[in-house]
Amino acid sequence: MNEPWTPASWRSKPGKHMPEDYPDAAAVARVERELRAMPPLVFAGEARRLKQLLGDVSEGRAFLLQGGDCAESFKEFGADNIRDTFRLILQMAVVLTFAGGKPVVKVGRMAGQFAKPRSSATETVGDVTLPSYRGDVINGMEFTPEARTPDPERMLKAYSQSAATLNLLRAFASGGYADLYNIHRWTLGFVADSPQGARYRELSEKISESLTFMAAIGVTPESQPDLHRVDFFTSHEALLLAAEEAMTRVDSTSGDWYDTSAHLLWIGERTRQLDGAHVEYFRGIKNPIGMKVGPTLEADELLRLIDVLNPKNEAGRLTLYGRFGSDKIDARLPGLLRATKAAGRNVVWAIDPMHGNTLTANNGYKTRPFDRILSEVKSFVEIAKAEGVHPGGVHLEMTGQNVTECLGGARALSEGDLADRYHTHCDPRLNGEQALELAFLVAEKLKEDRVEAPQRAAV
Ligand code: TRP
Ligand code: MN
Repeated sequence: MNEPWTPASWRSKPGKHMPEDYPDAAAVARVERELRAMPPLVFAGEARRLKQLLGDVSEGRAFLLQGGDCAESFKEFGADNIRDTFRLILQMAVVLTFAGGKPVVKVGRMAGQFAKPRSSATETVGDVTLPSYRGDVINGMEFTPEARTPDPERMLKAYSQSAATLNLLRAFASGGYADLYNIHRWTLGFVADSPQGARYRELSEKISESLTFMAAIGVTPESQPDLHRVDFFTSHEALLLAAEEAMTRVDSTSGDWYDTSAHLLWIGERTRQLDGAHVEYFRGIKNPIGMKVGPTLEADELLRLIDVLNPKNEAGRLTLYGRFGSDKIDARLPGLLRATKAAGRNVVWAIDPMHGNTLTANNGYKTRPFDRILSEVKSFVEIAKAEGVHPGGVHLEMTGQNVTECLGGARALSEGDLADRYHTHCDPRLNGEQALELAFLVAEKLKEDRVEAPQRAAV
């Protein structure tokens, strides 16, 4: 690890979950050159701002809300989709800010989440075996040899879709849509007549009243422009390193390297090998970064990874997303929290309650029971509190669309309902109603924390 880092130094390390079977190497090289000439999608200064906000999270002064599709796709691309996920995040942020009494850092799993690690390199249907689908930036989902052959042109398409998505997100974030005075308008149609919809309406009444009161005493959007807008950040799993390398640029202000394809990038559970290509790439970029932490990671290895990824122990640099499963978190998380705390490592501890709770329904659908997702989040907050660590945030796979992919929730989706609107390109996502329900339940937990905190301080 003492060898010099360059945006390409990952190439001399073993890299998992990246395609090695592009039929035309010259075409790959040409696409990489084209990508290198494309403008950055985000600025280094924005990434630094997010790092600073995550520093607040690591010190217990803020909460991270990160969410979006498991995998974005070329087919589902559209303004309605982007708007619906964005407004769901706003609604959840309102609920969490109100309950926790702390700012919520809003990060979309959007505008670049196109590459997927797969448990098997090939997929067999009947007597046909083809390469697995690896995400739209690499190949196509259709089960044909043409679609499954990796195509470098897809990197350019993913870039342009990310650029268009980010453009709309920026417009929503600062162009008036996210104005707190619009709080009533963010409810998704299908959520409006649900218990969550009613609960949200009640909360938004309260906030509107407070806004009226504050305006009367002189706190107006004119004096407080932040009432009108939000900081919204993008993130994805940086899996396909050739594409990330091409977007890695020197920031002229600091002279540092940034991956300009998103504000925050994370390393997945399957690619976090200490001597692997992904850890090598991540150690050199200055963005805030994340890493998934699953049930097999031991404390000593976690500390070694932290030393490589955050050698200067900077607050906000590294977010750890636990993803153990509701049945394993009690056994695995406490030891890891104790290890980072005892070693004085500045990290954000967050929870990904999705990936450890996936199962196959009797009818063959890959799904996730809502009660297990919820149970892992609750355990996370309780264990963190017991260990004296701030439960920093949640990382969710969710969509503003009315899909039927996860079981349960207030409407008690059953296995038989899954077939109705099962649209995901990869893992099952929470729908708008389920995500809002989860936000209310996390909010209750955070509120307990807030109520208990002064007592703790007085002891
Ligand atoms: N800018 C503030 C914030 O992000 C207040 C705010 C404006 C807000 N619009 C919002 C908060 C929408 C949550 C949701 O916290
Ligand atoms: Mn997933």
